[in-house]
Amino acid sequence: MVEILEKYSATKLEDVKVWFKAASVADFPTDGGACVKYKDKQIAVFNFARLDKWYACQNLCPHKMEMVLSRGMIGDDKGAPKVACPLHKKTFSLENGENLNGDLDAIATYPVKVEDGLVYIGFKE
Ligand code: FES
Repeated sequence: MVEILEKYSATKLEDVKVWFKAASVADFPTDGGACVKYKDKQIAVFNFARLDKWYACQNLCPHKMEMVLSRGMIGDDKGAPKVACPLHKKTFSLENGENLNGDLDAIATYPVKVEDGLVYIGFKE
C-alpha cells in the first residue's frame, strides 16, 4: 500500500524537470477528467473549463487505494477547485491536494500547461 503511494509526490511548478505530453486538448472531456499514464504512475487530468484551468493529480484515492479520481466530479469549495472521489465522495483540493472533508493524507498534484492544443504535465523526473 505504502509503496503505491510513494510513487506520487506533489510537484511544484518551480520543481518541474520534465514536461510530459499527455494528449491533445480534445481528448479530455469538458469540465471532467481523464486518466493518463506516466512511467508507473496514473495521473488524473482535469479540464476545468468553467474556470478556464487545467489540473492534474494522482489517480489513486488514498481512502481505499482505488484508481478512480479521474472519474470524480469536479466543483469548487468556496472558490477553490476540488475533485470528489466517485466511490465515497472524499473531496480533495486540486490546488494543493488537501483532503477537504476528512483527515486523509493530501494527494499529489502536478502542474499542467497547454500549448498549441496539447496538454503537458510537469514532473520532477
Ligand atoms: S475510495 Fe475514494 S472516497 Fe473511498
